[in-house]
Amino acid sequence: MGQIHVAGSVNIDVSVQVDKRPKPGETVEGDDLDFVLGGKGANQAIAASRLGSAVSMIGRVGTDRFGDELLERLERENLSLTYLHQVADEPSGTALITIDADSENSIVIVPGANAALAPEDVTEVPVNADDIAVSQFEIPQLTIRAFFERARDAGATTILNPAPADEFREPILPLVDYLVVNETETLSYSDIDHQLPLTTAQIIETCENLRAHDSQVLVVTRGDDGVLASTPTETITLDAHPVEPVDTTGAGDAFVGAFATALDDKKRLKDALEWANAAGAAATTTKGASSSLPTPTEIQQLIP
Ligand code: RIB
Repeated sequence: MGQIHVAGSVNIDVSVQVDKRPKPGETVEGDDLDFVLGGKGANQAIAASRLGSAVSMIGRVGTDRFGDELLERLERENLSLTYLHQVADEPSGTALITIDADSENSIVIVPGANAALAPEDVTEVPVNADDIAVSQFEIPQLTIRAFFERARDAGATTILNPAPADEFREPILPLVDYLVVNETETLSYSDIDHQLPLTTAQIIETCENLRAHDSQVLVVTRGDDGVLASTPTETITLDAHPVEPVDTTGAGDAFVGAFATALDDKKRLKDALEWANAAGAAATTTKGASSSLPTPTEIQQLIP
């Protein structure tokens, strides 16, 4: 087993439960206000750490009061924080989250200090051939590119979860071994003009269109329709777990963190997907992002 390095965002998630979201110009009353540690980077790092991997979190928070609080909460998660620093003059990353009556979330993020994570901050991280480098789209793409080039030079494995969806402004895709996307992201990153929801055949076609090199694996999370993985030689499909969701925030991050752990444990691709699929499902049964990331026992309970 190597180490998992996550270069990514750390946010304070300000979440609130609503019966319905306000229309433009409307005010609605919410309930259950919460301030929790989040950010796709931090969530994925914590998910992998809770499942037993050695994880290093590379990121930036502000020197504001949320920055201190986020650091304190990260320190409780058994992560290496050598490359997590506070930066002055930037607020800590913040996510404003509403959760509706169907347990679906809408999120507005303010990157703040996350945008200050620079290429030179990630190239100093020691990476070995056994390691796994994980990133998402809540830090600058130039930084992700430098991080993955560093990982590639070391012979490490790279996992990119390009969320929230954005255009590729840097040539990152050829540096990616495992691309983990949801259906909407699959479409937005390919040249194919299908309508959502996609059929399985359309997802396979879109993955083939997206694949940037011969050994790249594309993993598409499909919510209630499960997961599909497309490799140059096979397609693997898994059904979703029939759980009662209370909050889907962080479910994708639980999936990515668990998937990284499974690859680190040298599981076969299908087994790694099963583990990650159960982790994503388990995360929906508890409120919050980092607070909902499952333990091995919680995942195991979903796998027959
Ligand atoms: O994926 C969920 C995360 O997205 C939240 O924790 C929020 O911070 C946003 O980054």
